[in-house]
Amino acid sequence: MSFLSLCLLLHLFQANCWGPQLAPALYVLGDSMVDSGNNDALSTTAKVNYKPYSIDFPYDTSTGRFTNGKTSADFIAQFLGLPFAPPYMGLSVNQKSKITTGINYASGSAGILQETGSALGKNLPLKVQIEMFNETVTQYLPKNFKTNDEFLHYLSKSIFLVNVGSNDFLNNYLLPTQYNSSHQYSPEQFASLLLQELKQYLQKLYNLGARKFVVFNVGPLGCIPAIVKQENVKIGCAKRVNYFVSVYDKGFPSMIQELRDSLKDSTFVHGDINLLNSDLSIDTSLISEISRLTQLTHLNLFLDGISKIENFITASPCCSNLDNETNLCVKDSSPCMDRAIHVYWDGFHPTQVVYMMLSIGCFYAPLPCSPINVLQLAMK
Ligand SMILES: *[C@@H]1O[C@H](CO)[C@@H](O)[C@H](O)[C@H]1NC(C)=O
Ligand SMILES: *[C@@H]1O[C@H](CO)[C@@H](O)[C@H](O)[C@H]1NC(C)=O
Ligand SMILES: *[C@@H]1O[C@H](CO)[C@@H](O)[C@H](O)[C@H]1NC(C)=O
Repeated sequence: MSFLSLCLLLHLFQANCWGPQLAPALYVLGDSMVDSGNNDALSTTAKVNYKPYSIDFPYDTSTGRFTNGKTSADFIAQFLGLPFAPPYMGLSVNQKSKITTGINYASGSAGILQETGSALGKNLPLKVQIEMFNETVTQYLPKNFKTNDEFLHYLSKSIFLVNVGSNDFLNNYLLPTQYNSSHQYSPEQFASLLLQELKQYLQKLYNLGARKFVVFNVGPLGCIPAIVKQENVKIGCAKRVNYFVSVYDKGFPSMIQELRDSLKDSTFVHGDINLLNSDLSIDTSLISEISRLTQLTHLNLFLDGISKIENFITASPCCSNLDNETNLCVKDSSPCMDRAIHVYWDGFHPTQVVYMMLSIGCFYAPLPCSPINVLQLAMK
């Protein structure tokens, strides 16, 4: 059963399944931070359609999400009053023709560059995700609109969430025996290659009708458990890796600004994952609404000085039983019980509370998304 029909079904029993709809659709592109199950259909080791993944996901525990529960794409869908964007790879032709509330094209291990992640098996590189969206726009969606103007208006009001780039480091640049990039490019050259490519792909989305974008940069990858292990760091984070990423993140705002300047009627929101640890100053009157929408109970943990990751007790992965090769949770292993106070779920991915904080901030607060938040973007 698709998430869409699941939600409709739940709607019958639970009036508060979703809030009011603030945008016609949410389209999601990127990597395992937002993949909602596309890799389930691919031949790859970067696949998590087994327990304990999705253990805290409402209604379904084998979704192919690379975390214990919802991703930021799921939270943002809920805040927009939309169903979770279903994975494109799981849709029938009939579903592709009918779904107008958004689709998820994201793929674990995928990156901006086409070769990224290829050592793990198949994935959907950003280029392929955009080709799939092109297919959605040309072959499937138009049937739902009376006129082309109506269709273009719909696309211009839809939100495009793009979260990509981590794997171009993790599953490319940082693996010199499997990929050429670190032999070919200095960190500065590599960052500028990534930004140039990403810019071109975002422009393609614009050419296909997208106008409202939320684009995330890359977080401090030197601190994630798999990299701390790989780089043999004893205490703290791998500075070398954080440096590589910081070069990319430093160039990111001007790349986005160039797109704003050149693409008429576009709005780009820049999500800075490095600001996740800032004080988000959420209006406390919103807390009960957010709590209702997310159906999460540990929100009270964040009420005071909301969302300080340093308040989490531990940076060790909640899945203590990690596969040595993949750094993913071992199938059917038991995760930690206190999942609301762990930053990391497995060797690579955050827990859903981290995604929740990121999404609450990005949707309602002035940080970590700027110059406007996603709520303001939707209202625009
Ligand atoms: C690395 O570079 C060599 C020479 O340019 C090329 O033949 C090879 O296919 C490249 N390998 C990968 C994994 O891209
Ligand atoms: C979409 O696909 C069509 C047909 O393959 C192609 O001609 C067009 O250039 C594509 N559009 C974009 C923006 O990639
Ligand atoms: C993983 O590596 C550790 C240390 O090298 C070893 O003790 C353990 O047996 C390995 N686990 C698996 C599942 O291969």
